[in-house]
Amino acid sequence: QTNDPFVVDIPKIELHVHIEGTMTPELRWKLSQKNKIPLTCGADKIALTSLEETQKAYTCIRGRIGAASAEASKSFTFFQIYYEGFDLLQSEEDYYDLAMRYFERAAKLNVRYCEPFFDPQGHTRRGISMEVIMKGFQKAQIEAERELNVKSQWIMCFLRDMSPESATEQYEAALPYKDMIVGIGLDSDELDRPPKLFDEVFRRAREDGFRRTSHCDFNQKDTHEHIRQVAESLGGPGTERIDHGLNAADQDDLMNMIKEKGIGMTICPCAYIRHAPESEVFVRIRKLFDAGIKITIASDDPAYMEDNWVLHNLYMVRDKCKFTDQEMVRLQRNAIEICWASDDEKAALS
Ligand code: HPA
Ligand code: ZN
Repeated sequence: QTNDPFVVDIPKIELHVHIEGTMTPELRWKLSQKNKIPLTCGADKIALTSLEETQKAYTCIRGRIGAASAEASKSFTFFQIYYEGFDLLQSEEDYYDLAMRYFERAAKLNVRYCEPFFDPQGHTRRGISMEVIMKGFQKAQIEAERELNVKSQWIMCFLRDMSPESATEQYEAALPYKDMIVGIGLDSDELDRPPKLFDEVFRRAREDGFRRTSHCDFNQKDTHEHIRQVAESLGGPGTERIDHGLNAADQDDLMNMIKEKGIGMTICPCAYIRHAPESEVFVRIRKLFDAGIKITIASDDPAYMEDNWVLHNLYMVRDKCKFTDQEMVRLQRNAIEICWASDDEKAALS
């Protein structure tokens, strides 16, 4: 059901959305025109020469990544398309635009507070300065709070397919912007990249007062071991949240540890059903929720995930996990409890 007024009206908090994953075809086209960067589609690099073609390419991307055809998904992966979008971002104004378009969408969906991720290494490695990125984001953030009543704090993610040394370098480059950044995370391709590789920089971030989270994507190789490292010991005591981590539902000892440590989990159902049967997804979400683990629902990379924003992700669990009105409210309360707003902010959100 996709117009359930209860779900539409409920005030929302979004804790797992990659700002770069909110780049719509419209913005991609606009930036390509503005910055004179030609757009192409797929491994065969077919030129895109209009907004309509760009929109169609997104449909084809959406149809193909992680989709039924192994042949098609070989020709381009999610990460290729995601990082190609980075190249279009050049100026402070571009970063402002990216963030502002998301905040506007969030306001329409009744999102009152969010903690978007950003991947600075994907920008600084192209020669973009932290100043350009952060000034653009900050302008949007201030305007969103003032004009749209959407509050936000940023989470800086390290790319785990880059080196721990690169993460440390990025960490130091971000320290002048500490006031804007509430936490650090770990994302990108996790194949053979166990979280413990980044233990040192997470330890440092903890000592410096940053909150910590890490991705453990659904059904990845070694996922149970990755979840264990993140929950048990990353940066010393483990992180305060896990992004995805849905496979924790497979093992009672992982669930118990997450529950006992009060670790929050950000769950993005529309991301999983692109490459797993629904039967494997919603049973696990229900199981974590029923175990009393603090899960919250979010959108991940909505522009690349069939255009499914947080509202649609909430509809999905409402429908497939059969969450009652009360349980939907519980999901939002979980989000307030596990978010990194100040106590005063949390009280205002309650
Ligand atoms: N997984 C891991 N890293 C990411 C993703 C994702 O889905 N989106 C953006 N960075
Ligand atoms: Zn994510």
